[in-house]
Amino acid sequence: MKILIMKFLHVAVLLILHGQSTEAEKKTQQHHSKKTYLIHMDKSSMPVMFTDNLHWYDSSLKSVSDSAEMLYTYKHVTHGFSTVLTPREADLLAKQPGILSVVPEVRYELHTTRTPQFLGLGKTNAHFPASDKQSDVIIGIFDTGVWPEHKSFDDTGLGPVPAGWKGQCETGTNFTASKCNRKLVGARFFSNGYEAAFGPIEEDSESKSPRDDDGHGTHTATTAGGSAVAGASLFGFASGTARGMASQARLAVYKVCWQGGCFSSDIAAGIDKAIEDGVNILSMSIGGGLTSYYRDIIAIGAFSAMSHGILVSSSAGNAGPTPGSLSNAAPWITTVGAGTLDRDFPAYVTLGNGYRYSGVSLYSGKPLPDSPIPLIYAGNASSESGGNHCQMGTFRRSEVARKIVICDRGGGPRAEKGLAVKYAGGLGMILANNAEYGEELLADSHLIPALSLGQKSSDAIKNYVFSNPNPTVKISFGGTRLGVQPSPVVAAFSSRGPNSLTPKILKPDLIAPGVNILAGWTGAVGPTGLDMDTRHVDFNIISGTSMSCPHISGLAAMLKGAHPEWSPAAIRSALMTTAYRSCKDGETMKDIATGQAASPFDYGAGHVDPVAALNPGLVYDVTVDDYLNFLCALKYTSAQIKIIARRDFACDSSKNHRVEDFNYPSFAVPFETASGIGGGSKAPISVQYKRTLTNVGTPGTYKVSVVSSQSPSVKIVVEPQTLRFERPYEKQSYTVTFTSTSMPSGTTSFAHLKWSDGSHIVGSPIAFSWT
Ligand SMILES: *[C@@H]1O[C@H](CO)[C@@H](O)[C@H](O)[C@H]1NC(C)=O
Ligand SMILES: *[C@@H]1O[C@H](CO)[C@@H](O)[C@H](O)[C@H]1NC(C)=O
Repeated sequence: MKILIMKFLHVAVLLILHGQSTEAEKKTQQHHSKKTYLIHMDKSSMPVMFTDNLHWYDSSLKSVSDSAEMLYTYKHVTHGFSTVLTPREADLLAKQPGILSVVPEVRYELHTTRTPQFLGLGKTNAHFPASDKQSDVIIGIFDTGVWPEHKSFDDTGLGPVPAGWKGQCETGTNFTASKCNRKLVGARFFSNGYEAAFGPIEEDSESKSPRDDDGHGTHTATTAGGSAVAGASLFGFASGTARGMASQARLAVYKVCWQGGCFSSDIAAGIDKAIEDGVNILSMSIGGGLTSYYRDIIAIGAFSAMSHGILVSSSAGNAGPTPGSLSNAAPWITTVGAGTLDRDFPAYVTLGNGYRYSGVSLYSGKPLPDSPIPLIYAGNASSESGGNHCQMGTFRRSEVARKIVICDRGGGPRAEKGLAVKYAGGLGMILANNAEYGEELLADSHLIPALSLGQKSSDAIKNYVFSNPNPTVKISFGGTRLGVQPSPVVAAFSSRGPNSLTPKILKPDLIAPGVNILAGWTGAVGPTGLDMDTRHVDFNIISGTSMSCPHISGLAAMLKGAHPEWSPAAIRSALMTTAYRSCKDGETMKDIATGQAASPFDYGAGHVDPVAALNPGLVYDVTVDDYLNFLCALKYTSAQIKIIARRDFACDSSKNHRVEDFNYPSFAVPFETASGIGGGSKAPISVQYKRTLTNVGTPGTYKVSVVSSQSPSVKIVVEPQTLRFERPYEKQSYTVTFTSTSMPSGTTSFAHLKWSDGSHIVGSPIAFSWT
């Protein structure tokens, strides 16, 4: 009985992690008609009779509920607190004086494609000059915690913990204060919101401490700032030295994600502490509903972090290739998409008709006999819906026994499909992509002989099976292959622009490696994360924008080490204006979902080039006031601005606040077409954008040039065409006028603007769209 219950819980947990939230939400609702709310208070309207804002919060809360307790009070992210209320109490509270907003708890998710696949490492040995200052930089990782015994947290050779560090090593289940060291300088956990929703943590199955029972947090932390570990690999795949991007930087771990998700009240409490502790970079491979900046706790928390000089790097999400699918779009966040490395793990299929196809796999067990094995399509061995996806228990066993089974990708964890085949008596699996995944291949450490195939090969193999009375197949595995071209390409899963919240800000900002990435893993679960996977690995290979985000976090830490005085916006600008948009073979970077050229809506400014970013020449800097003026340009009310900025900011009504003039390192230019048949107004539409460059290099004269790839429909005029910088940090401004002729609604086109002094290239993507 006990075992059955555990299994059931496990399935529920997997559903949650895969974004099928209904189970979790139902569970929450059944347990409580009450919910957690975040209460944003207007500190400036605290009545004079209170000397302390905590008393004021408490008294406001008591006025609507005798029993409610505060889960957290917040200082930096917002002024306010979180608590559990009935909807009626929440309504009453929202009407009290001094309350800016009462927002229900939001469950965020990790941006991993989860069922772990493997890869990585290649780019982690980037040629950075060693910088002493890098060891002063502290990267805060918001994730599932940490496995502190991992070799990547070895602190040999690191000096004392930076003097300003105020963080802690919190104790709890299987975690003592001695788990931190000079590499892992802090570890905290935030579970009040999670426990309010799901009940007390069951410490048998989940550590109520910073310990990582999942693997995701150890993976992201070691990617951003892990120490070098020689001889790393996953079952021999991707072998070499594994090291984080900023291998000299310090790590501080904030566990805000649990088996049931990452809750906004916990995230807010984590950011509050991280600001107080003194982190310099905040890495959050977490995302969720994108409704407005003032309702999104990641955007609100990131604003506060940014105003304390902390760069926040976040994942764009794994909802690609659907246009407009990205999260974490606030302009004060660095939003990271995912691309591939030049490394893969080939595996081969040879059909009975002699045709051969290649895919990828990280299967490391016993090979299949080298003789033809009967092949069947899962959809033909099941009459249940989901049968083609090889969900557990959907097969007619007699039809899959002793066969290799073709399973369609989607509808469940990839490695679990292999287990379903195994339990039904099958010998192996071919995981087939459909159009949604195109040719994107994620490698998995399958528990039976299995491989992933792209859409074209999958279709060909299905045709063979459907047209042959006795189809057979052989599967073989080819280890690790380097120098794969073309690379990088944009991952199909990587979430895409345009930015639906602020169409005039281009997102994502850039891409970094996020497909089949090798990094550290927890000791608590095997590489597939499945219950039945009892293997233990030090390193695992997984994919997602969750993996690309900590690459940028680590690289930002390197830049911060090299240029401690740079603002978060300056660091992001350096990463963006030096990014590249072609493959190593010189071809235009492609989108693996379509096989066609990718665009700035897919990769933003392009793929990160860390060495070039160290010396960008010029940067587009942004101050806190610029961000506040941006909020004015969005026509936010003073209450909405106050929720984000925690202070009164009166938009200067004599100024014409425009998003077009917000000093972003890229350009998104949406044109409105007159509605009506065919769309498009007759008269050309002209819009002007203004930008200001700051010299962070030597004196020099920069000339502008604009390349319009396929946009003769827009005339682009830059004024002036030359900018002369004499002194460090000198600023010069320019305007760009875009004049569009009539284009049908739905059209997009792209251009690229660059300033160069002959040695530096300061590039910006331009994305046009007609709506
Ligand atoms: C506790 O941590 C140790 C490593 O120090 C690990 O070997 C052990 O499996 C952990 N126990 C649990 C229940 O996670
Ligand atoms: C197997 O499934 C395919 C696709 O659903 C179908 O076209 C084909 O007729 C099926 N074959 C058999 C023998 O049922």
